[in-house]
Amino acid sequence: MGEERIAIITGAARGIGLAVAKRLAAKGDRIVGIDLQEDLLKKSMASIGDEKKALAIPADISRPEEVEKVFAKIAAEVGTPEVLVNCAGITGQTGMPAHEVDLEDFDRVYRINLYAAFLLTRAAVKAMLPAGKGRILHVASIAGKEGNAGMLAYSATKAGLIGMVKSAGKDYAETGITINALAPAVIRTDMVAAMPDHQVKYMTDKIPMKRTGELDEAAAMIDFIVSPECSFTTGFTFDLTGGRATY
Ligand SMILES: NC(=O)c1ccc[n+]([C@@H]2O[C@H](COP(=O)([O-])OP(=O)(O)OC[C@H]3O[C@@H](n4cnc5c(N)ncnc54)[C@H](O)[C@@H]3O)[C@@H](O)[C@H]2O)c1
Repeated sequence: MGEERIAIITGAARGIGLAVAKRLAAKGDRIVGIDLQEDLLKKSMASIGDEKKALAIPADISRPEEVEKVFAKIAAEVGTPEVLVNCAGITGQTGMPAHEVDLEDFDRVYRINLYAAFLLTRAAVKAMLPAGKGRILHVASIAGKEGNAGMLAYSATKAGLIGMVKSAGKDYAETGITINALAPAVIRTDMVAAMPDHQVKYMTDKIPMKRTGELDEAAAMIDFIVSPECSFTTGFTFDLTGGRATY
């Protein structure tokens, strides 16, 4: 087991975020979990360990002042983060053709999936630069590469996230900080359970392996991407689609 790293994980209350938090904690990292759902976040972090092992910081990452506060608290009370895994994200309305997309819904999806990712990247890089090392990973989606029908805001913001990672990865390529994305197809989580059956079927039917991905498969890949061993890849979007992606 290596030296204890501080790993910030957003969307850590459940789903992919919680699975990653558990895996990194088991390998020796100190977890700072961030999520909107305060009670669930606290319960989830407590299931990993005490506050020294897995600290819960409830926050809305789409608000610049909250992101600033979170990073100030981490600097003051925990230390210098080495890892950021951004799993917070929302689908917004689904099954909605482009001309019926609600403006407020589009804005909400944009603020959480893309704007928040920018805020987090900015804050994490500032914290990591003096140490000259860091791993930042944003969970995007195959929808950002291919576009899912009925999910315009989601697909567009995830494509934006992939673009942001390409750019930011190059900005810090010589600093020891890598910035990558992961593009999963369907992983069975609460987010997917909340979607209409026909939308989930549409997405699963496109997977050549003809099955959904498992949380453990997502956590294992993220674990590698944010490990010190994954040191010659930045600005890249890793695939986790059971064969759906061809680039
Ligand atoms: N599950 C899938 O099939 C799938 C596929 C591709 C991509 N993804 C992406 O993976 C990520 C995690 O997905 P999941 O399936 O675990 O979802 P999930 O809904 O189970 O978990 C997401 C978490 O993010 C939190 N969150 C949402 N908005 C927030 C905000 N503004 N501030 C702080 N926390 C916030 C939620 O409270 C929730 O706990 C998302 O970005 C999602 O788009 C998921």
